[in-house]
Amino acid sequence: MKKVLLVILVVLAGCAQSEHGTGIDGRESVSDAALHALMAQRIEELYQRIEVLAFDQNRTLPELDQDRRRAASEIANSAGSLSSIATELMQLSESLDLTESNRQQFQALSQNLQSASNEVRSAAADASSEDLANSVTRLQGTCTACHSLYRGR
Ligand code: HEC
Repeated sequence: MKKVLLVILVVLAGCAQSEHGTGIDGRESVSDAALHALMAQRIEELYQRIEVLAFDQNRTLPELDQDRRRAASEIANSAGSLSSIATELMQLSESLDLTESNRQQFQALSQNLQSASNEVRSAAADASSEDLANSVTRLQGTCTACHSLYRGR
C-alpha cells in the first residue's frame, strides 16, 4: 500500500515538473505572452469563425429558411429603431449650430433617412430579398448624403 502511494507521489512530482520542460512522455509545454495572445485572440477567433461557417454549411433548407426569417425580423426591428432615431435627429437639429437654410436641409436629410428606414422595414417584413437589397442601398445613400454636407464641420 505504501509503495502505491510512493508511486503516485513520484508521478505527481513528475507532472509538476513537466510544466516547464520535458514531461514523462517526452512532451514539452511552453508558456509565452506573445504566443498566448496569438492563440487567445487571433487564432481562436479565426478558428471559431471557421467552425461556425463550416457547421452552417450543413444547414438544411428548412433551417436556412428559418434563419433567413429570423434575420429578416432582426433587420425589420433595427430599421424601425433607425426610423425612431431619425425623429430624434430632426428634434436634435433644432439645437445644432446651423444657419436656418442648413437646418432645413439637415431636417430634409433626416427625413430621407426615416423614409429609407421605413422602406427597409417593410421590405424585410415582406421577405422580398431583391427589394431589401435595393432599399438598404438607398438607406446607405441617405447616410452619405448627409455626411458629405454636415460631417466634419
Ligand atoms: C441628417 C444628417 C445625417 C444622417 C442622415 C446620418 N448621419 Fe451620421 N453623422 C452626421 C453628422 C453631422 C456626424 C458628425 C457628428 C459628430 O461627430 O459630432 C455623423 C457622424 C456619424 C458617425 C461617426 C460617429 C463617430 O464616432 O465619430 C457614424 C459612424 C455615422 N454618422 C453613421 C451614420 C449612418 C450609418 C447613417 C445612416 C444609416 C447616418 N450616419 C446618417 C449626420 C448624419
